[in-house]
Amino acid sequence: MTDNHIDQPESRVPARVIGTPSSNGPILSGDNRREAGAAFLADEDVHEVKGVPGVVYQDPASARRAERLVALLFTITFLAGAAFIAAYVAFQVGTIDKTAVSNYALGGTLSVALLSLASGITLWVRRIMPKYYLVQERHPMASDSATREYVKETFLEGANESGFVKHKLLRRTLLLAAAPLGLAPLVLLKDLGPLPGTSLRHTVWGAPTKDGKPRRLVVEGTGQPIRAADFNSPGGILSVVPEGYEEDLNALAKATLILLKFRPEEIKSGTNLNWTHDGIVAYSKICTHVGCPAALYEQTTHHILCPCHQSTFDAADGAKVIFGPAARPLPQLPIGIDGEGYLVAKSDFNVPVGPSFWERGDAEAEAREKKA
Ligand code: FES
Repeated sequence: MTDNHIDQPESRVPARVIGTPSSNGPILSGDNRREAGAAFLADEDVHEVKGVPGVVYQDPASARRAERLVALLFTITFLAGAAFIAAYVAFQVGTIDKTAVSNYALGGTLSVALLSLASGITLWVRRIMPKYYLVQERHPMASDSATREYVKETFLEGANESGFVKHKLLRRTLLLAAAPLGLAPLVLLKDLGPLPGTSLRHTVWGAPTKDGKPRRLVVEGTGQPIRAADFNSPGGILSVVPEGYEEDLNALAKATLILLKFRPEEIKSGTNLNWTHDGIVAYSKICTHVGCPAALYEQTTHHILCPCHQSTFDAADGAKVIFGPAARPLPQLPIGIDGEGYLVAKSDFNVPVGPSFWERGDAEAEAREKKA
């Protein structure tokens, strides 16, 4: 016994080798490999050996049953793939509930399609194609030309034996199954458009309400309107959204605010006093660096911190940038109160919210529009 061999009973051949075996062993090829493999076959395992040692052909009746099953699985793949596309069109996103329904529908149909396709292909290989019992010695990594030629022949032989040409039903149902899956990525391209144009300049704060009244500020999560007199403790902060758009993720992506309360003497010159009400100031919550929600607030320093890349804004001084990669202040929203004392938006932001590259792209789009 050498270091890398384990003694085994005679009946277990070839001996198992631990570690990298010698490269001096013989390379078995062609019929030799099959003959060596045939030695492992018990007689009862062999349904039909057509003059080729080591090759077992499938029982024809069982192969025909398998063929019908595989065709059924490919048909299911087709139906699930078509359902995926239909679900993409039918279930639109926009709110959290709608997005969840869309995700379930898309994930469910795609899972069924891929599972049935994989099952069909596995059954095709295991129950329809012939089985080979082969013994292959380990050999040097680089194959010689004879081996490469053999691999080529075996591949072509396998392609022929798979029956891709012969089994028309399987071939057609497989192609049918693959068609919707192939088209699915094209359908998803729809999510890349349309181009934003000048839409990034505006938020729903500037959109008219149904009754023509100014739009109220409501607390994020509860939808509760905010009475200015109730928001009366300096240092307080609230996350706020526009009334009527509490569930609209597209609108909230640009319109979410932070609302802060100051003592009059705390407010500095950078803050537009005409856009405040009784020391209450509203800023966009969307960081002007790359758009994270900037809502960490340090009451004693009046610093608003964005957790993504540590941009820091001075809330008492017009939310000017005092640290970090953001290039401009958080936009301030003009606010006031309605007849019942609730906080409302007096107009939209006067600059685009969010990352500065939006502003640049938006300005270019606007220039193009003016030119046209
Ligand atoms: S997104 Fe706010 S600092 Fe980068």
